[in-house]
Amino acid sequence: MSGARRVNPEDTRGAIGGYPGSGSMMPAPGSPLLDVRGLGKVFPSGQGHVVALRQVNLRVYPGRLVAVRGRSGAGKTTLLNLIAGLDDPTSGQVILFGHDLGPLNDRQRTELRRRDLGVVFQSAHLFPTLTARENVELPLRLVKAPRADRLRRTDEALALVGLAARAQHRAPELSGGEQQRVAIARALVHAPRLVLADEPTGNLDLQTGLSMLDLLRNISHQAGISFLITTHDPAAVQLADEVYDINDGVLSPAAR
Ligand SMILES: Nc1ncnc2c1ncn2[C@@H]1O[C@H](COP(=O)(O)OP(=O)(O)OP(=O)(O)O)[C@@H](O)[C@H]1O
Ligand SMILES: [Mg+2]
Repeated sequence: MSGARRVNPEDTRGAIGGYPGSGSMMPAPGSPLLDVRGLGKVFPSGQGHVVALRQVNLRVYPGRLVAVRGRSGAGKTTLLNLIAGLDDPTSGQVILFGHDLGPLNDRQRTELRRRDLGVVFQSAHLFPTLTARENVELPLRLVKAPRADRLRRTDEALALVGLAARAQHRAPELSGGEQQRVAIARALVHAPRLVLADEPTGNLDLQTGLSMLDLLRNISHQAGISFLITTHDPAAVQLADEVYDINDGVLSPAAR
């Protein structure tokens, strides 16, 4: 996973390499990886309903680190869940790698995620009985990557997040920040096109958070992997290529 390798802009899958059969769902060069159009989400609730997203428009292009910042309850996780196809919008569209998610069934959405999307949830969501290495290796098992390839990439991804020495630890034997970093390694290991990360620095101290963001930025610029992250972290705002604010479900470009 040598961060320094430059890649052909036509093939934005970069230094961490693709796997056989990957990349079949790519749009033409120059088009966005993600195109969110007029997205709205209303949750029914006991007392009426909650409008979580209103008319959200957002595009993410290859090799960009894009940050969405907003206070608790602003709609950040809801937005990422809709982009990942884990929930359905009330209105609008998510076009991911050129595919409108609306008509896709669960199996097709899962296939799209496994190939080209990495997801880091707000809580790390590691399997507690698996080691750090086994957790990171999982996405490669799902795409049936060969064993030698799996082991090499898994160790590279763990080294990238500074956790080579913790490879054999099970999730409960890791600190919150270390678990978060394992989740990031797991999201990167299959060389996705786009990584969605919900507050990836939420459990990290200032310094570790800063180096993690710097790392994400380097990966996005050098390997051509885009990141869409949500954050409360002011440092993210300095390091990101684009920053949006979300307030009460309304997304707008941030004044920086
Ligand atoms: N399943 C649900 N049913 C009803 N309301 C929901 C549901 N999920 C989220 N909400 C509401 O939608 C709004 C947006 O929630 P969301 O989780 O997207 O916020 P967030 O910006 O991620 O906040 P945080 O920073 O605390 O994680 C909140 O008011 C929340 O209460
Ligand atoms: Mg959230």
